[in-house]
Amino acid sequence: SRRAYHEKVLDHYNNPRNVGSMGKNEQDVGTGLVGAPACGDVMKIQIKVDPTNDTITDVKFKTFGCGSAIASSSYLTELVKGMTLEQAGRIRNTEIAKELCLPPVKLHCSMLAEDGIKSAISNYYKKNPKAKQTDLGGTGAAMPKIEIEKLRADTPSAA
Ligand code: FES
Repeated sequence: SRRAYHEKVLDHYNNPRNVGSMGKNEQDVGTGLVGAPACGDVMKIQIKVDPTNDTITDVKFKTFGCGSAIASSSYLTELVKGMTLEQAGRIRNTEIAKELCLPPVKLHCSMLAEDGIKSAISNYYKKNPKAKQTDLGGTGAAMPKIEIEKLRADTPSAA
């Protein structure tokens, strides 16, 4: 319902969970940077992985985008904490959109979150080639360089 959409999105938008950054050079941290070419919104998702069991022990995000993108990334971070990389790699944007009751025009906002977690996992695999790797399928829309610079800057996320 329209009401549920407003409540859940607004809750995550007003009280986003797990906003922040982790040291991207740390061996056990995977960093995903993704963008939505249609609107220019960008998202950074970072995961910290316990290499002994391929489990996500911590997760942070920064999103420069619309309220639905911020809510999608906030919800995603709650979802993946404690998951194995394989489980997290199977999350689909449709699950996120359903939970937040996003309307069709906002589906691509939840796609950013799916792309973001896949991109973070694949970055972790790149840094840790000996980790048990799982197939992530297609991922990651190309992002303009200037948007990546925006994510690297330490300004807080804004709508
Ligand atoms: Fe593009 Fe939401 S409008 S991510």
